[in-house]
Order: sequence, then structure tokens, then C-alpha cells
Amino acid sequence: MRNRVEVMHGVNLDQLGRRDPEHYGRLTLDELERQISGAAAELRLETRFFVSNHEGEFVEHLHRLAGMADGILLNPGAWTHYSYAIRDALELTGLPAVEVHLSDVDSREAWRRESVIAELCVARIAGKGPEGYREALQCLHKEFSA
Ligand code: DQA
Repeated sequence: MRNRVEVMHGVNLDQLGRRDPEHYGRLTLDELERQISGAAAELRLETRFFVSNHEGEFVEHLHRLAGMADGILLNPGAWTHYSYAIRDALELTGLPAVEVHLSDVDSREAWRRESVIAELCVARIAGKGPEGYREALQCLHKEFSA
């Protein structure tokens, strides 16, 4: 039974709690991760967390995932909108992935509407705050049992 989810936070996500609460809420990354762990446990999913502000590190972590995870829940932050390097590394994993954004990227600046990873993801969830991560876990859970 597949149940290992790699939760990957990209650039500036470590600054949650200091970022504009209107878009990102008030939770710190630690608090968000605790909520994600709780939601995952309810679904009997195992989570591992990774956070980096360095695109190359994020790419290399994706390279290492084969055999270590069954699915990926990722919020690459601003990289979502332009990093073909992350897009290609995500494709290389061959794993089911769900793209999550805390804020409603589709109703903000035009450049945030673009996602270079969306076509590789089984779902894209945005604008639901921390609850979006629970939804993303449910998507992966469904994917694992398909
Ligand atoms: C974000 C949205 C991105 O546009 C932004 O650059 C982020 C966070 C979100 O979670 O809403 O850093 O991915």
C-alpha cells in the first residue's frame, strides 16, 4: 500500500507567519506542518517535510525521491510560475503530485496565474489556506488507492 507523502515547501515559505496575512494567513511553517501531519495521520499517510530557498537544492531533493516517496505535495512558491528546472525534475520523479498554494493565485497578479508544473500534477489547489493541504492529501490518498 502506497502511503509515503513528501511535502515540499519552496522559496519564502519558511517565512510564513511574517508574510502578508491577507494572502497567507498567520500560521508559521511549523504550525502548518503540524496541521498537515495531523490531517495525514487521519488518512494513515506518512509525511516527510522538506523546505528550501535554493532552487538547486529543491531540484536535487526531487532527484532523490525515487523509491523514497509514493507521492508529492508541493508548494514551490514563486518558482511555480517560472522554474522549468523544477518542472523537469518533478517530471523525472514519475510520482503523482499535487500542487498547493495558500493564496488564491488566480485572483492576484497575472504572473501568478501561470504554473509550469500544473500539467504534471493530478490536482492544483489554491486559495484555501491550510485546508488546501488537507484536500491535497485526500487527492493523493485517492490516487494511492486507485
Ligand atoms: C504561493 C503563491 C506564490 O505566487 C507566491 O510566490 C508564494 C506562495 C502560495 O502559497 O499562495 O510564495 O505559492
